[in-house]
Amino acid sequence: MKPTVLLTHPLPPDWIASLEGQVTLIIGQEETPGWRDNLLQALPQAEGILSLLTARVDEAILEKASRLRIVSNMAVGVDNIDVKACTRRGIPVGNTPGAMTDATADLAMSLLLAAARRLPESSRDAREGRWQTWSPTGWLGADLRGATLGIIGLGKIGRAVAERARGFGLRVRYWQPHQSPEGEAGGAEYVPFEALLSSSDFVTLHCPLNESTRGLIDESALRKMKPSAILVNAARGPVVDTSALTRALSENWIASAALDVTDPEPLPPSHPLFSLPNCFIVPHIGSATHGARKRMAEMACENLLAGLRGERLPNCVNPEIYKP
Ligand code: DGY
Repeated sequence: MKPTVLLTHPLPPDWIASLEGQVTLIIGQEETPGWRDNLLQALPQAEGILSLLTARVDEAILEKASRLRIVSNMAVGVDNIDVKACTRRGIPVGNTPGAMTDATADLAMSLLLAAARRLPESSRDAREGRWQTWSPTGWLGADLRGATLGIIGLGKIGRAVAERARGFGLRVRYWQPHQSPEGEAGGAEYVPFEALLSSSDFVTLHCPLNESTRGLIDESALRKMKPSAILVNAARGPVVDTSALTRALSENWIASAALDVTDPEPLPPSHPLFSLPNCFIVPHIGSATHGARKRMAEMACENLLAGLRGERLPNCVNPEIYKP
């Protein structure tokens, strides 16, 4: 008997080719990602879950999945999964580090450049007839060379952003709870959190979402930033307090923000952030390249199959379950 696996959203067949003949797949729906009825009904048979970051795998789900042996998330972030609850049950949780590093770093730099050079605003003005002449003072943006980039979270993606930033002549500083010898070897300078906020021309977020980073960029953090500063978030929406950011942008505590992620997600089109000229939002596309998304799916399948075979996952976020 092939093990039953719940896939919370359809994926292109060639991305999950390794599952063919190995598992019985029960697949969620394209338009409504998450726990649809067909998936909920199949939970008692499920031995594996292959989830997207849009599907919460929490106590309520785990309680119904008494045969579950592996949760494989097609993302590096696992904030949608109650990892502690999985660990208590001895269920390994897999993720996909590395697969989207370059894609996400490229997107973060794109957001930074777009915000620095006011691309969304100037493009809108050109399209809507406000481009009357070449204006010496029109659409002036921020200079990059010699400016300071503050990176919060110098993991793989943060370091890839640092590497790109140096090519633009930015001075790179970082903060995270522990110093990173690897990052420092690459030229990033460690500074305390508050000093990073007050000294950076650009602040870019690349930390995981967890209990200590939820709401990290709150009113007090935003008020410490320079009035000319630009905030980039390509990590997770809830790292930033949305209502504090809305006020910071409306009242010009900071110059602008470029967001790949929001809280909530998706952000309703009627949200005030969408009407602010100094806020630029894209729909969580950090990893959205053909290569990155395919590799993420392949890695998620590798973790899933290893878990079903009872082997150690190639990428496991709760390896403590393997300790005797
Ligand atoms: C991840 O892998 O956590 C990314 O957010 C996906 O885009």
